[in-house]
Amino acid sequence: MSDISLAGEAAALDAADGLAAKRAEFDLDGDVVYLDGNSLGALPRGVAGRLSEVVGREWGRLGIRSWEESGWWTAPERVGDRVGALVGAAPGQVVVGDSTSVNVFKAVVAAIRLRDTASRDEVLVDAATFPTDGYLARSAARMTGCRIRAVDAADMAREAGPRTAVALLNHVDYRTGRLHDLPGITAALRSADVRTVWDLCHSAGALPVHLDAAGADFAVGCTYKYLNGGPGAPAFLYVRRALQDRFDSPLPGWNSHADPFAMEPAYTPADGAVRGRVGTPEILSLLALDAALDVWDGVDLSAVRAKSLALTDFFLRCVAAYLPEGLVTSVTPRAHEERGSQVSLRYGPGPGPGPGPGPGPGPRPGPGSGAGDVMAALIRRGVVGDFRRPDVLRFGFTPLYTRFADAERAARVLGEVVAEAQR
Ligand SMILES: Cc1ncc(COP(=O)(O)O)c(C=O)c1O
Repeated sequence: MSDISLAGEAAALDAADGLAAKRAEFDLDGDVVYLDGNSLGALPRGVAGRLSEVVGREWGRLGIRSWEESGWWTAPERVGDRVGALVGAAPGQVVVGDSTSVNVFKAVVAAIRLRDTASRDEVLVDAATFPTDGYLARSAARMTGCRIRAVDAADMAREAGPRTAVALLNHVDYRTGRLHDLPGITAALRSADVRTVWDLCHSAGALPVHLDAAGADFAVGCTYKYLNGGPGAPAFLYVRRALQDRFDSPLPGWNSHADPFAMEPAYTPADGAVRGRVGTPEILSLLALDAALDVWDGVDLSAVRAKSLALTDFFLRCVAAYLPEGLVTSVTPRAHEERGSQVSLRYGPGPGPGPGPGPGPGPRPGPGSGAGDVMAALIRRGVVGDFRRPDVLRFGFTPLYTRFADAERAARVLGEVVAEAQR
């Protein structure tokens, strides 16, 4: 297929895109194709004005009164409910605060503390997990006399046994973009009395998630990726309502006390989602996130999902058309039910993350032209994705602001860059 027909097809797809108008709600550099929203989401236009009001009036003029008068004190639960609506959680179960790393720790320790018998002394961790989850699970296990076992997420249910207390899983693999079957795995683990902790960093805001319907126990996630909350925006923690009364946080800070201003030496946990809090909320970044969430008003997540799959399908077609055969291999599953909202291309020889065979026959990049160099060259030409060692080029597709024309341009420029690297 020629450039012209793919570019023309992209124009037609953009013209028919029901989410196209959403792009105007983001402050984007028109010269750049931004395909890194799976790492840091783009800036929603409403954030700067809201932050200036928070800083100028709420902090600058009202000062400490804003904890009450501007609703700062209850913002973690209020914003938590907004995030909850995007991950299938009814109000009162999500709180926003701390980092994903810290929330993984809270959730895993609390999940272990919920085990029915101390003979459950095993924590299963997704073998391909984002490393922080593994580090924290290991520490949580060490503190509670448990041991860790790394298992492929898809095999969790089969691997769990009578000694398994908790399974910690990534909903979408950060490197390959593989989507795991959250409802199916959760149901199977539940029937074995194993608690689930889901890391939704790469699915919250990228595709519909139905935590309540699935019966997930705990979930955590970033808000600076597909939720566009800004660099270092606070993360979220979901504790299923039925478990809230027994949620025993390993970080029982004063913000989660039933009466924080009583300043009592003894700790009495608050009820509900508040129990997931620790210390003083990160008000500026929390309220930046709150403003960023306005872009979701009126958005149907199934339309987001449909566009995400169409974008990633189209990008893969463009890559196949513009790149010499065999030079890159998608490690992102072809099957829609196994694909998140990114495409990861393995470039060049050498071991890479599964699934998928090696690069196969065909041209190989020369020295000094590895995946890192390719991504650097792409970025210089205005196509921003990222690179994960050793050989993965990642392209995140964020349906609220990515156009089909962006997918076509990214693949075309990638084709030019790798052709030059071959010379
Ligand atoms: C899947 C996953 N889990 C956890 C994290 C860590 O999040 P944080 O650095 O906010 O603690 C990330 C960050 O990119 C991630 O992608």
